[in-house]
Amino acid sequence: MAAAQTRLICASSQLEDGGLAHRFEIEQPDGSKLPAIAIRYQGQVYGYLNRCRHIPIELDLQDGQVFDLTGHHLICSMHGARYHPATGYCSWGPCRGQSLAALDLIEENGEVWLNAMPSEFC
Ligand code: FES
Repeated sequence: MAAAQTRLICASSQLEDGGLAHRFEIEQPDGSKLPAIAIRYQGQVYGYLNRCRHIPIELDLQDGQVFDLTGHHLICSMHGARYHPATGYCSWGPCRGQSLAALDLIEENGEVWLNAMPSEFC
């Protein structure tokens, strides 16, 4: 069973490999909310803040559409930056060399959970 400070994000079945991201929000201590995504890539679940490192806007062109046509990169809809789905590292675009802010997601018993928010985002 997941630890007490975790939060349920979605069912595992909602994340298709290379498919639509599951969008959710992370509430900050001041009440503001940060957009976030959960994705599946090569069988593993990953989570990131849904914020391009170039300009802090959401990556998706339409809700949850963050993978490019190859299914091997996350792509920013604004200027096309490409991030590796497993690391969040930007290999192409105006923010090349930077990385998406990674979240600590855990998958167990058919569910995806978020571990307590790292303090760096608070
Ligand atoms: S805002 Fe994402 S590449 Fe420019």
